[in-house]
Amino acid sequence: MNQLNNNILTDLKAGKEFSFGGFLLTKDGVFYQNDRLSSSFFISQKSKDPVTQELTYTLCYLFEGEWQDVIRGATDFQASRITSLVSLGIDFENVAKVNVLLAAYVMQQRKKISTSHDYNNLGWNDKNQYQTNQLIIDDKVVGRYQGDLDLEPVGKWADWQEGVQKLVLPHSNLTLVLMMAFATVLCGSPYVADLNSLVLELVGDSSSGKTTALEVALSVFGNPDSTAHGSLVRTFASTKNSMMKRLGGLFGVMVGFDDVGAHADGLSYTDFIYTVGNNREKDRLTSDATLQSGLPHRTWVITTGEEAISDNLQARGGIYVRLIEVNDLQYTKSANHSEEVKELVENNYGFAASKFADLVLEQQSGLGELKTVNYDALVSRLDYRDNKVERLAKQLSLVLVATDLVIDKWHWQIDKSSLTEVLTKVINEQAKNLDYSGFAYSKLVNFIRANAAHFDTNGAPSRLAPSHGSLDVTTSDGTVVTMSKSDFNDLVNELKLPNAKTLLKSWKKAGLTLLNEPDRVYWRGKNKQPLVKLKVDLELD
Ligand SMILES: Nc1ncnc2c1ncn2[C@@H]1O[C@H](COP(=O)(O)OP(=O)(O)OP(=O)(O)O)[C@@H](O)[C@H]1O
Ligand SMILES: [Mg+2]
Repeated sequence: MNQLNNNILTDLKAGKEFSFGGFLLTKDGVFYQNDRLSSSFFISQKSKDPVTQELTYTLCYLFEGEWQDVIRGATDFQASRITSLVSLGIDFENVAKVNVLLAAYVMQQRKKISTSHDYNNLGWNDKNQYQTNQLIIDDKVVGRYQGDLDLEPVGKWADWQEGVQKLVLPHSNLTLVLMMAFATVLCGSPYVADLNSLVLELVGDSSSGKTTALEVALSVFGNPDSTAHGSLVRTFASTKNSMMKRLGGLFGVMVGFDDVGAHADGLSYTDFIYTVGNNREKDRLTSDATLQSGLPHRTWVITTGEEAISDNLQARGGIYVRLIEVNDLQYTKSANHSEEVKELVENNYGFAASKFADLVLEQQSGLGELKTVNYDALVSRLDYRDNKVERLAKQLSLVLVATDLVIDKWHWQIDKSSLTEVLTKVINEQAKNLDYSGFAYSKLVNFIRANAAHFDTNGAPSRLAPSHGSLDVTTSDGTVVTMSKSDFNDLVNELKLPNAKTLLKSWKKAGLTLLNEPDRVYWRGKNKQPLVKLKVDLELD
């Protein structure tokens, strides 16, 4: 019930009387000019259905000394039908006479009550408000969530904050996952509209605290207990459509899937990642869009598992721009620590997301700057860069932006540099799952271009020592760089590129190397000496 009408009920119970036009409402009944028309009832709430646009009314009435409520449509309050409410237990004095008067009484209230605009989408709405279980504007409830997730806050915000500061913030890895939850709020916000949804996969051994970390993150939004009705820990659906329904309409509200290896048997994990990643741009929700299974979303989803899904997938570049694997972190200090944290977040949850959204709104003008600074800091630490890696860095830099906000505004004590360190490691590892042979190749070519003087060129010895190899312009293949196996390995190490043999295999596939024996990855030189012959697009002076 919204606050205004809750007050009516409280006051009625306390014996207060209300007048609506010429009608009087008391706990003893509805009166008109001193005549009692019926037992006590009133309309407490008016709601607009987000799909059908139909108005519904909550009718509060006294039955055998207990207040009850029921939802009815407008037609139930027409003069010709109103006395059918007798079936609920409301009694009418003189059915034939009072119907017109009671219909007028209800009409008075219907006009006065502000409409609650109900919704199915959570998080940032079109008016840049962050809506959870209810939307409150100027202390008034103006809308209510109609979906099946439990976002009703439970416990105390102060207890959650205090507990988090004590049990979570001293532990970097657990803090990282918590900051991912706040970054999710940022990701769905109108100030970060250029990013897509993302799956964060926590991979690690049993009892490393993955589920604990998942619960911490989800407690920012609502009920994190996987056994609870409406839990933010969701179960895998068997089809893409039903999965879309589970994610549809989430803008900056995290949901989780625990232990996916054990449960993802219907929809494959690959399909799941594409389903999450392929959100459409946020468009206005019309009743039509709401009915479609593919309701848009922009959010981060968190999963846990003992095995990296990448072990089971062919490395498909597309997956790794939509999925971040966080491998082998220990989130909890001990079994006891894990139990304490779970206890905290299962008893206090659902406050932080809205509070954080308020910070985002306060900060909006400075947000661009914060994003740039944190992105630059993160990207400068990476081993490799290409547009895919940069996109991941852009998304994950939101974790650092969120960290800045809570340090600055809530005075949380967080070791930001260790979060940055872990994030850097995560992205560097992830880069190996991307099409790294492509950017390892460009990195090498860039090096050669910048250091051409260190190569023997067209038979002439290198101008600078040491020589890394030779550059030869051939007619049919453009420029060919020839290096001994050991020179190549040295260079690969120096440039921090992935394993030399792996690179050569994939460059062979891409036709970037010259081979005189097709089943090898090295050119066989004189004395069977292995050589790398790389075709490069390089202008020689
Ligand atoms: N750091 C730890 N050291 C020892 N035991 C732990 C630790 N953290 C958690 N546990 C134990 O493991 C149990 C499960 O914790 P949690 O669910 O967070 O781990 P998990 O990584 O999700 O494990 P699983 O892969 O089995 O689901 C806890 O109830 C606790 O008893
Ligand atoms: Mg677990």
